[in-house]
Amino acid sequence: MLHGDVGLELAARVAAAVKSSLDLDITPAEALIRPSSRPGADYQCNAAMGLGKKVGRPPREVAAAIVGALDGTGLIVEPEIAGPGFINLTLTDTWLTTQLEGLLTDPRLGVPETGHPRRIAIDYSSPNVAKEMHVGHVRSTIIGDALVRLRRFHGDEVIPHNHLGDWGTPFGMLIEHLIDEGFSADHSISDLNTFYQAARKKFDADPDFAERARLRVVKLQSGDEETLRRWRELVDESMRHFMKVYKTLGIGLTPEDNYGESFYNPFLADTVAELERKGLTEISDGAVCVFPKGFFNREGDPLPLIVRKSDGGYGYMSTDLATVRYWTGERGATDLVYVVGTPQSQHFAMVFAASRDAGWLTPGHTAVHVNFGSILGEDGKMFRTRSGDSIKLIDLLSEAVDRAAAVVGERTDLSEEERASIAHAVGIGAVKYADLSSDREKDYVFSWEKMLATDGNTAAYLQYANARTLSIIRKSGETVQPGATVILTEKAERDLALQLIQLPAAIQAAVDGYTPHKLATYLYDTASAFTSFFEKCPVLKAEPEIRKSRLVFCALTSKVLTLGLDLLGIEAPTRL
Ligand code: ARG
Repeated sequence: MLHGDVGLELAARVAAAVKSSLDLDITPAEALIRPSSRPGADYQCNAAMGLGKKVGRPPREVAAAIVGALDGTGLIVEPEIAGPGFINLTLTDTWLTTQLEGLLTDPRLGVPETGHPRRIAIDYSSPNVAKEMHVGHVRSTIIGDALVRLRRFHGDEVIPHNHLGDWGTPFGMLIEHLIDEGFSADHSISDLNTFYQAARKKFDADPDFAERARLRVVKLQSGDEETLRRWRELVDESMRHFMKVYKTLGIGLTPEDNYGESFYNPFLADTVAELERKGLTEISDGAVCVFPKGFFNREGDPLPLIVRKSDGGYGYMSTDLATVRYWTGERGATDLVYVVGTPQSQHFAMVFAASRDAGWLTPGHTAVHVNFGSILGEDGKMFRTRSGDSIKLIDLLSEAVDRAAAVVGERTDLSEEERASIAHAVGIGAVKYADLSSDREKDYVFSWEKMLATDGNTAAYLQYANARTLSIIRKSGETVQPGATVILTEKAERDLALQLIQLPAAIQAAVDGYTPHKLATYLYDTASAFTSFFEKCPVLKAEPEIRKSRLVFCALTSKVLTLGLDLLGIEAPTRL
């Protein structure tokens, strides 16, 4: 039988032993099972110390009682008690080898599917129309995509949506500028930022233009057809640009996933009316506001969520209240996820608090702001070009591919086409992995040298490890068949085995905390365990039985790395 997470299985057995020996009910989490760093033990149980205090007995005695009652059949060898009362747990070789043999035929590699699927609406990428995506949107796009993949694999229903900034006052000037420039079907806004800046400049310098822009906003909001047509041209043109970026990055978002700010426009009046009806609003400086409890400015005054401005207009805050109401209400989402930078933490905390007060979020829902830090340049400041401009994403991505091409360039045994597709996988993989492998809440430094290194915690290192496993199998002239027997002869094999069976735990950790870096760390550890194995355990030159077994290690390492990278949205080429 395949166990998902062996740590959970051990925890369940320890909990049962605690019940029968001490007559105490503990949860599996309270069994405090941790991978062990001691040589000779795979896991350890750290519960005896705390339980000793609870029952007033020496921890070692408690540990002995637990061990006496512990049913380790088929799973572990006789446990050992160490130090003040640690219980060392070591899996039997038979259990480990049986697991590995089982993994060979399991496309999910031992990872269980959840029995309690959630419906998760996940807001990510969310760039602004008529503007180039900035690095914040890049992080949102990459992290969000990984979360979509992880959650789907976990068995949840995921509804990705792109909260495009496609509505509001800037569209007055943008549309006027578009009209002035004589936008025609074949003319495109080649540089979104330049277009935006030109409009802005005119708006600031030319009062007539500014006035036209203001009137245009009114026309847009009242649904004037000609204005809406122009507006749509802008949105479509930007979307074409964003789609290019998504395609290069391998991101699944399509125009169907657009739920931009404009989408919520028809719901805003009702949203505010409901808040008013529920007695949650106050008038402050002529604006309709909600003051969720617990939010204050520096002076100690309560902070408002402005739900309708004094001029009757709606803004970013109103729209986000409408998102919560829509996704939980109309769409029955159980979990709302917003992948947006840390500077908006307070905004989301306030939106969630007000939504709870309004009853749009109940205890059965979760709403999570999956926040992330900034990307910094190597000088530790905001990541920009040398001339101080913000970086054009599409240029950055093609630079990544070019640099990767130089890394893999020497391979004359590969066709031009293969080399190009490898350069793409390595270059784009490098950019994505640099982002996904660091704790998302922290800032990270963008460094070409570091992210494209073939050594260290990089995509290239994982991709190379994977390609090496496959190359060994190719050279063996054999195929690894289901039913192959695994034999453990060397410590490096056992270490790799232990690593390979921990995929379920790694994925669960990444899912639970919306923390893809936990999966990345696991993959790096796995590739490292494979490297040690590869150094110490000859494969092709080994005795036939052991050779077969070691080929299984190669095959499973490849499967784990390939699946893991795929869940991060990164390709794993079969040759490098
Ligand atoms: N367009 C926004 C920005 O660029 C991000 C939107 C995030 N999603 C949301 N529901 N507020 O900052």
